[in-house]
Amino acid sequence: MVAFDIIGNIAILHLDKVTRQNKKFAKVLLKKHKNIKSVYSQSKISGRLRIPKLRWIAGKKQTEILHKESGCVLKLDINKCYFSPRLGTDRLEIAKKVKRGEKVLVMFSGVAPYGIVIGKKSKAKEIYCIEISRMASKYAKENVRLNKLANIKIIQGDVKRIIPKLKTKFDRIVMARPQLKETFLKEAFKVSKLGTIIHFYDFVKEQNLKEVEYKITREAEKAKKKIKITKIKKVREIAPYKYHIRIDFRIK
Ligand SMILES: C[S@@+](CC[C@H](N)C(=O)[O-])C[C@H]1O[C@@H](n2cnc3c(N)ncnc32)[C@H](O)[C@@H]1O
Repeated sequence: MVAFDIIGNIAILHLDKVTRQNKKFAKVLLKKHKNIKSVYSQSKISGRLRIPKLRWIAGKKQTEILHKESGCVLKLDINKCYFSPRLGTDRLEIAKKVKRGEKVLVMFSGVAPYGIVIGKKSKAKEIYCIEISRMASKYAKENVRLNKLANIKIIQGDVKRIIPKLKTKFDRIVMARPQLKETFLKEAFKVSKLGTIIHFYDFVKEQNLKEVEYKITREAEKAKKKIKITKIKKVREIAPYKYHIRIDFRIK
């Protein structure tokens, strides 16, 4: 069995190489699932913009889709923007934590799935989304319109350049980081205050979980902030014994 995701009406098979057997499997998928109109393969996601490398296998050739999640609709081009339906549960979990009147910042917001789900499912006052990719930001703005949300601000640009210009502090910061070395915690601390909750994402091997805690604590000390880690969650397994994790902490 090949692992696959469904985004909108497209099935994405996670494969390094497409074999004849995979092509047969794609045709079976199209036949058995009437909601699937196209099948693509995705080998790896790389670079700062986290754009997947896709290859058409079967069905309709289309990459712009409408994906439904938690009562929200998300439009995006899977060939030009990062999006993972596997983070849907995490997005809803975060949205449920947001309290009435909160000011929320989503860094690395992509086509704005975290911002949109939070906007729909919580009583947040304002949600700022920062994303460097012009293409993802274009879809993010369209998604705000499609979901009829008035309290979301999409800011296209580099987190490092945008944060120093912001004249506000946030109650909650979602750091859905790309898989890069840079932690961007310095930027997060700049727009945090007493009580701010930060959701920090990382990619680690089981045996290195403690190192992430040290990394956060070290960065907090440098920024002269005191923190309390409240939760460490394995969001999903990305390779054997390697996890996409979320660390929740509070500024105290
Ligand atoms: C792993 S994706 C997450 C996207 C989105 N949060 C989601 O869940 O679909 C990381 C995103 O960070 C963006 N990115 C990378 N470096 C950035 C930077 N310095 N400032 C702003 N966005 C950045 C990429 O373009 C990409 O869309």
